[in-house]
Amino acid sequence: MQITQVKTLLEKYNQEHLLKYYEELSEGEKAGLLDQIADIDFSVLELIKDKDIEQKRGHIEPIEVCTIEEIEAHKERFFEMGMDAIKAGKVGAVLLAGGQGTRLGADKPKGIYNIGIEKPLYIFEMIMKNLMDVVSLAGVYIPLFVMTSEKNHEDTVAFFEEKNYFGYDRAYVHFFKQAMAVATDYEGKIYLEDKGKVATSPNGNGGWFTSFMKAGLLEPARKQGMQWLNVFAVDNVLQKIADPYFVGAVIDSGMVSGAKVVAKAEPKEKVGAICLEDGKPSIVEYYELSDEMAYQKTETGRLAYNYGVILNYLFDIDTLERITKESMQLHVVEKKIPYINDEGVIIKPEEVNGYKFELLVLDMVHMMDNCLPYEVERNKEFAPIKNKTGIDSVESARELLRLNGIEVV
Ligand code: UTP
Repeated sequence: MQITQVKTLLEKYNQEHLLKYYEELSEGEKAGLLDQIADIDFSVLELIKDKDIEQKRGHIEPIEVCTIEEIEAHKERFFEMGMDAIKAGKVGAVLLAGGQGTRLGADKPKGIYNIGIEKPLYIFEMIMKNLMDVVSLAGVYIPLFVMTSEKNHEDTVAFFEEKNYFGYDRAYVHFFKQAMAVATDYEGKIYLEDKGKVATSPNGNGGWFTSFMKAGLLEPARKQGMQWLNVFAVDNVLQKIADPYFVGAVIDSGMVSGAKVVAKAEPKEKVGAICLEDGKPSIVEYYELSDEMAYQKTETGRLAYNYGVILNYLFDIDTLERITKESMQLHVVEKKIPYINDEGVIIKPEEVNGYKFELLVLDMVHMMDNCLPYEVERNKEFAPIKNKTGIDSVESARELLRLNGIEVV
């Protein structure tokens, strides 16, 4: 696009400030900036206006959950079915590591974060160890797809190389980059992150399957007979990956997806609870639950909305492919966004200062025809690291690791 066309485009969307430093740029940088502007999806800016309008929800009802007791009663069968699928190469794992971990405040990818005290213990190291546990049992490697973003791809790959893939066979590890979206201030003005660079951020964890396909990974996976993808977050250091019991339970149920869930610590805990919405699986946020719903009980005396999701899902690949034809909702989220100010100084804000636009993996759950919520013990499988201290932090994860016999020294 030529500069005149770009100017017209920016005028239309009230974003002329993106050319503030244009004249200071080299010829190459100028062309680069024009290309970036031409690629911007300005329609996302419309979402800011409507961000406070409450999303209309469908009819919310409790969903049936495969509880710890039920799992215990059928565990041999689940294990066998899950193991058979893993051994036959039907299961792949997808590590969502494209996020920026702004709450943790590290510049590097979250997986590189060292949670050890004297002796290093990296988040990626724990993930690979957990995956290796299943590989050792199954006697086959499980293909691992690692989603990164433009912001952390090189660092992530270099780290895996440096650590020799933590003993995993590198032929089974595939990296792919997720797409990016612009970031704006509170008035909807797109930030510049440098004089010649529009501020962008990863477009949320819900875009993973589209990015997976775009990277050309679907075809080979299918050829190898893969049918299931276990998608999980980078920051839960206790989670089981490609857990044969979970895989077996979902296959046994005949459903097209499964979600690991934990019982809430208390009825009003601030977690999204799995439910049915208009007869389809869904997640109801804690602030959307009325008091009546939060304390509602089922016939068996359990809380009706008792199970929080922990971002560990199993999806049937055929169904994933089908739902890519449907559009997903982009969410407007407040984040800390580094930017260049009017004086040409790069600012790394301490507080949230604007909006990013994200697709969320939990929206995919509602696009599935059905989903098996699979209960796991919180203290054994849920140690998320979102913050440095306090709730869901490095400190709380260390405690939980120790509780499970893993040395953190
Ligand atoms: P979070 O929602 O915790 O986001 O991600 P985050 O970016 O890691 O951290 P904050 O909110 O900035 O502090 C949950 C999971 O989704 C992945 C993350 O890497 C993490 O595994 N994710 C998130 C992506 O892969 N891409 C994204 O764009 C966002």
